[in-house]
Amino acid sequence: PSEGGWIANHLFRYQGFWHHIRQLQGVLTCQSHFHAQDSDILLVTTPKSGTTWLKAITFALVNRFLYVDDPQQHPLLANNPHELVPFLELKLYVENQVPDLTTLTSPRLFSTHLPSVSLPTSVKDSACKLVYLCRNPKDTFVSFWHFTNKLRPAEMGKSSLEEAFDKFCRGVSLYGPFWDHVLGYWKASLEFPERVMFLKYEEMKKQPKVHVRRLAEFLGCPFSPEEEKKGLVDSILKLCSFNNLSNLEVNKNGKMSTGEEYKAFFRKGEVGDSINHLTNEMIKRLDEITEEKLHDSGLKL
Ligand code: A3P
Repeated sequence: PSEGGWIANHLFRYQGFWHHIRQLQGVLTCQSHFHAQDSDILLVTTPKSGTTWLKAITFALVNRFLYVDDPQQHPLLANNPHELVPFLELKLYVENQVPDLTTLTSPRLFSTHLPSVSLPTSVKDSACKLVYLCRNPKDTFVSFWHFTNKLRPAEMGKSSLEEAFDKFCRGVSLYGPFWDHVLGYWKASLEFPERVMFLKYEEMKKQPKVHVRRLAEFLGCPFSPEEEKKGLVDSILKLCSFNNLSNLEVNKNGKMSTGEEYKAFFRKGEVGDSINHLTNEMIKRLDEITEEKLHDSGLKL
């Protein structure tokens, strides 16, 4: 590995996108063996776009009877969201492992970082719903840079921000090019709005209630007037808030089966922190690339 980043140096290009070499076999296994069901819900993101938050919110939303039954025993209080909504290619289909997912109760909740071109064909052929959450590339990049540093063996020291940034801009990032990933799902959401919902992290932060209600409607489980009266939207948002989740014992001290500490998934949870890490030139370069890549798409990031 050179200075470019512990993860960025083990990338392998497949179907136009960069994957970690160790995860590629899982992607192939997932593509051949995952059978989507019409009632499935698939949460899709690029890394560091707010996956953990989206998983928590969707889990709480879909299983909201759990909250009503006994808020103190809610699974989110004792389990990290990544355990409740597992990644297809990173958790369920690792190497050649083919799990039996037929016994899970519906709606089954899964997540993926796969770009739209690489989704298993059964996802495209079924009527399952996809929720895509994107985040502005500056904050996503900075968040990812911090994340890789947390996962890097201590003896390797910090990765170079400049080198990682240059690679990101050239599209060489985990599941990148970032813009192609976002555009694939943006176009799918325009073409199949009943199947693909497109959300932005920044808008969720600004108007969480609006978007949680939209999400509930999209998933076919809108909040009833009684639930609204009881303040269930607020309760779900509070349960899934950065402050609440990041301070839970499980998220402070727990680990994924693959070894990553849960606390690595909670850093600041704010919009615009990239300004504290990127120079004006870097910001200008990233803004220009974003403008160029998205200019005729109707999407603004
Ligand atoms: P920062 O590094 O900018 O703080 P992912 O879940 O896709 O790995 O993304 C991680 C990013 O989402 C991190 O961003 C993290 O702090 C933020 N995040 C985690 N939980 C969150 C929550 N409940 N609400 C808002 N942001 C959250």
